[in-house]
Amino acid sequence: MTRVLMLLIAAATASFAAGQSPCKIAFWAGTQFDMTALNNCVSQHKTEYEKFIASCPAINATLPTVNDAARCDPILSNFSKCLLRSAKLLKPDNTFDDVAFKTIALKKKCI
Ligand SMILES: *[C@@H]1O[C@H](CO)[C@@H](O)[C@H](O)[C@H]1NC(C)=O
Ligand SMILES: *[C@@H]1O[C@H](CO)[C@@H](O)[C@H](O)[C@H]1NC(C)=O
Repeated sequence: MTRVLMLLIAAATASFAAGQSPCKIAFWAGTQFDMTALNNCVSQHKTEYEKFIASCPAINATLPTVNDAARCDPILSNFSKCLLRSAKLLKPDNTFDDVAFKTIALKKKCI
């Protein structure tokens, strides 16, 4: 039973992927943050992280429109920079590295 389900999911994923551009597939696969980097950033910015969890509870991927960006995004700014830096997506001047994003996260599928 489980195996049949797995095969169905694999088949569905394959046919789904077949209809998508390489750029979209790369975009959805996104940047892989490793757990070590994630844990390091959480512990380095624990206060911000906990404040975010406590004061921005309505934010989730299902309902992004609830995101109170003006209030909530700045809380996580240092944490986000930490995570982006660990993924080599932050320039030394703390701005987002578009070139690295296209190369690393999008795997040059969108250039
Ligand atoms: C996301 O927010 C919506 C609306 O508040 C809620 O119904 C849903 O359960 C939330 N999802 C998660 C994963 O928290
Ligand atoms: C982020 O880090 C800077 C420099 O350490 C600090 O001044 C600022 O308060 C931090 N931001 C937040 C939201 O904690």
